[in-house]
Amino acid sequence: MTVYRTYGRCLILLTAFLTVGSQQKKPDEKEFICPEGAGNGNFADPATCRRFYQCVDGYPYLNRCPSGLYFDDINKLCTFKNEARCGPISTTPAPITEPPADLAKKCDTSACVLPYCFCSRDGTHIPGDLNPEDTPQIIMMTFDGAVNLNNFDHYQRVFTQDRKNSNGCPIRGTFFVSHEYSNYNMIQQLAHAGHEIATETISLQQGLQDKGYEEWVGEMIGMREILRQFANISKSDIVGMRAPYLKPGRNTQYEVLEDFGYIYDSSVGIPPLKVPIWPYTLDYKIPHECRSGTCPSRSFPGVWEVPLNAHYVETYEGGHCPYLDQCVLHNHDPDEVFEWLREDFNRYYLQNRAPYMMPFHTNWFQIKELERGLHKFLDWTETL
Ligand SMILES: *[C@@H]1O[C@H](CO)[C@@H](O)[C@H](O)[C@H]1NC(C)=O
Repeated sequence: MTVYRTYGRCLILLTAFLTVGSQQKKPDEKEFICPEGAGNGNFADPATCRRFYQCVDGYPYLNRCPSGLYFDDINKLCTFKNEARCGPISTTPAPITEPPADLAKKCDTSACVLPYCFCSRDGTHIPGDLNPEDTPQIIMMTFDGAVNLNNFDHYQRVFTQDRKNSNGCPIRGTFFVSHEYSNYNMIQQLAHAGHEIATETISLQQGLQDKGYEEWVGEMIGMREILRQFANISKSDIVGMRAPYLKPGRNTQYEVLEDFGYIYDSSVGIPPLKVPIWPYTLDYKIPHECRSGTCPSRSFPGVWEVPLNAHYVETYEGGHCPYLDQCVLHNHDPDEVFEWLREDFNRYYLQNRAPYMMPFHTNWFQIKELERGLHKFLDWTETL
């Protein structure tokens, strides 16, 4: 991380140095500071529309838009000059809320027994104390948001007939679906093909983490109801949820999850760790730092959390990210993308074999190099 940060800072200093003759700059304007409380994401570089900062856990990583493109501070992406709204554009900061007292107890392995309960002191232990060599390496591919013409064919190409698990079954993914722009005919096809359909929310509204029980029921259970109506997916087949923007709704969301018969949540992001965390039940205290700050504080016995470990490589090239498309790899060619994924994956495969979750938004599949890199990676995993 240090290497990358220093590199970023050098670039800024260099720019400041070059413009020193024409422009008076206060020294404290030189270094970009990630806006507090705004969370992770991309932010306009005040100096130029050609660049932006990726803020990850408060650290700014300087990035450049691909050649010819400019940073749009409303949609937070690089686009054509005539469409880009140059920033910084001010936004209203999120309200500061008191974190509730921590009510869950520390993991007690003598009382916590599979299959209903699983925990370990630091979250990295293998269930059943298996040796890593005897532990199957699970890869989970998840796709968030709407399913429609923009991504359906790309998703289909990931799940080809010849990609199989070691037991001969075809590989399948999980789709955390949101309503807007979704094509339910396509979702029904995915469900029919054996993919897991799970719920994100109807509207992907911001700030849901601070809303009440009724709002969570409306958004989550409402989404499940829509899937039943329009994609003929039975209620009992929808057992997983993911909060929009990985902002879990504190205890409220988990009360809804419990009350409406869900089995697991997958919204909790983890900072970069040397050894990845295994999924756990929420009987006990969460065994890692809660990156969003809105994790549940009390115990929810038997409810599974499938957390999102941070993706990164040793050099921190590309930054670190919960969703793979949020790491900055768009300047890479397919071989480099493959190598990056392989190094990230090996941290699991060569250590504790925690399930390797690959969370995607549709964005990943709009860049050919990233898509090809993923295909290379998937083909490689079949040779293991
Ligand atoms: C809906 O699903 C059920 C089985 O889950 C099936 O029997 C029924 O034919 C389906 N309806 C439609 C309209 O596809």
